[in-house]
Amino acid sequence: MTQERPELFKELDPSARLLMGPGPVDVYPRVLRAMSVPMLGQFDPEFTGYMNETMALYRQVYRTTHEWTLLVNGTARAGIEACLGSLVSPGDKVLVPNFGRFGPLLAEICRRVGGEVVTIDTEWGTVFELDRLADAIGKHKPRVVALVHGDTSTATVQPLEGVGAVCREHDALLYVDATATLGGMPVNVDEWKLDAVSAGLQKCLSGPPGSAPISIGERAVEVVRKRKHIEGGIQPPGYVAAAGAIVGSNYLDLGMLIDYWSPLRLNHHTESTTMLYAARECARVVLEEGLDNGFARHRAASGALRDGLLAMGLRLFGDQAHRMTNVTGVFIPEACGDGEGVRSEMLHDFGIEIGTAFGPLRGKIWRIGTMGHVCRKANVLRCITALDAVLRRNRFEAPAGAAVDAVYRAYGDDG
Ligand SMILES: Cc1ncc(COP(=O)(O)O)c(C=O)c1O
Repeated sequence: MTQERPELFKELDPSARLLMGPGPVDVYPRVLRAMSVPMLGQFDPEFTGYMNETMALYRQVYRTTHEWTLLVNGTARAGIEACLGSLVSPGDKVLVPNFGRFGPLLAEICRRVGGEVVTIDTEWGTVFELDRLADAIGKHKPRVVALVHGDTSTATVQPLEGVGAVCREHDALLYVDATATLGGMPVNVDEWKLDAVSAGLQKCLSGPPGSAPISIGERAVEVVRKRKHIEGGIQPPGYVAAAGAIVGSNYLDLGMLIDYWSPLRLNHHTESTTMLYAARECARVVLEEGLDNGFARHRAASGALRDGLLAMGLRLFGDQAHRMTNVTGVFIPEACGDGEGVRSEMLHDFGIEIGTAFGPLRGKIWRIGTMGHVCRKANVLRCITALDAVLRRNRFEAPAGAAVDAVYRAYGDDG
């Protein structure tokens, strides 16, 4: 059939892969199954019931009581843009501390919406001390501080304890990008006083990219309300727009998103039914395991991976006291050039994807993920065994068997 109709190409039949990069990672099979259940109309009470359940589930995942914990349709970046585009008005000062590739993304998004952005930098592979953040907040007095939690580009995690309290002292809102940590490392929204936080599904939540769970606290909602504009065709009688600047994007306007997710169900976009099913199941999977159990599983796998890499004689990238427990940066040995040959053999000979790097780290480090559904002993063993073999073919001799032994040992299994 397809041979007679070449313009139809072939039926999708992707190769089996083990995704051990910094995301996306393999989707939990239960999540894939949830994505194949029937459509419902967006205002069907059964569907709005699922929307409410999804909000309740993500409140647990984010450890928050924030009422406005909901999904933005689109990848993690859509969640970031919804939060920052709705919180930053033209002329607002925004502080963005950069410690990797994603700080500049937050800064760019804030500039695009007219924010007056101030950045502070620390060398990639390091993070900020609280004092340095507090000084910068005191000095620049921003309306919004936009901070990445785990930056997959450097495999380091910025401690957030105390940052929210400092922001409140200076009347700044704290937005955090938790894309790479949610479900894999603690993201304690209420305890850390995060005013707005966003994530994606394709990392430690073991889902596909395409839905962004966000959570917005009362201080942030107040800003959103002051900018609330309802679009022409659905304004209720007597409607008067708020005095604040209209949000530049209709699709990502938190004021309208909140109305859509609220009991008002004011029409906005058509919620992506299938992605909502996926997001709901992702949350159920991580909560069923127990958040703390999941964090421990990530710590165990990334610790075993680290031990295996070190036993091979490889060097790890970044400040190890602040390493993410779901992605590991490792220097490419000199014998392997820019490392792309090794990545290609890992993919084509073993079906395992490991990550390349960005900017100044491109050709210098690989990034190996142990995220979500992938984060298990069998996969760490597979990855380390394959890497050992491929490195040997690429002129890097690791002590025979040392890496696998180290992984077994890390799991308390000395054989
Ligand atoms: C920390 C961080 N923020 C944002 C993003 C962007 O996510 P997306 O590609 O889903 O838009 C990523 C993706 O790697 C990330 O790691």
